[in-house]
Amino acid sequence: MDLEQTEALAISIARGAGALIIQGIDKEKSLSRKSSDLDLLTKYDNESDEYISERVQNSFPGHKILSEENASKDRTEEDTTSGYVWHVDPLDGTVNFVHGYPVFAVSLALYHDNRPLVGVVYDPARDECFSAISGLGASVRVRSTVRQIQTSNTDGLLDSLLATGFPYDRHHSNEDNLAQTAAFLKRARGLRRSGAAAIDLAYVAAGRLDGYWELRLNSWDVAAGVLLVTEAGGLVSRADGQPLRLESQVSIVASNRSIHPAMLDVLDGVPRDSKEGD
Ligand code: IPD
Ligand code: CA
Ligand code: CA
Repeated sequence: MDLEQTEALAISIARGAGALIIQGIDKEKSLSRKSSDLDLLTKYDNESDEYISERVQNSFPGHKILSEENASKDRTEEDTTSGYVWHVDPLDGTVNFVHGYPVFAVSLALYHDNRPLVGVVYDPARDECFSAISGLGASVRVRSTVRQIQTSNTDGLLDSLLATGFPYDRHHSNEDNLAQTAAFLKRARGLRRSGAAAIDLAYVAAGRLDGYWELRLNSWDVAAGVLLVTEAGGLVSRADGQPLRLESQVSIVASNRSIHPAMLDVLDGVPRDSKEGD
């Protein structure tokens, strides 16, 4: 497989899906709920999903697709850890999108035998497209310009800008990331909650953030972003420091590499009953 051609195709697909989504930013949206009252679905999530699936299937009829919006459709039998698998978040940041808050993305990644080959995160509001190919680095495209991206050089939490996110079941669950957030707030220069995990990871890759952690994410939230971060020189691991495997309920730390041990120390220092997912 020609990975540069595959990257170009994935960029084209992500841009096409982003163009569909952005049409809805200022429109009134009718909402349905998924796993909780906070977990929203719009017709734009579905339209983006259908568009992406159709284009991937047309180009790669033998590849599997694990997308957020079709994951529940009796895919329990399907092995998504072997062969070629596309991990798709057709609209990451749906709550932002519903409120017209312009931070959301399309996230696509192609894995082979659970190893990343190509990852793309497209932010249609800023028209920024982040992409990476395994072994060939990471870049960002803004209109017709392309430049390589790298993680930051920051080497202490006190000088770091970090990001995180919170699970949709937090109104009812104690596994809410609040103790971890308090611990980082007391140590870092700043902490952001963008509302889109794929953007957080792309920003770590681009050196705009020094580190990011989040608990209990799904594979489609992080599949593209982890390749962006590692290809930009950063490090990703599980929240307990073990190697990250793409699976559901994944707790992740992504950083510029230098601050990784300090981030793991902070998470390790959070009392046992406030931890989960690792
Ligand atoms: C969500 C966003 C959010 C993160 C949640 C994700 P969605 O994805 O990435 O930043 O905190 O955990 O589920 O539902 O907007 O695709
Ligand atoms: Ca998501
Ligand atoms: Ca989504």
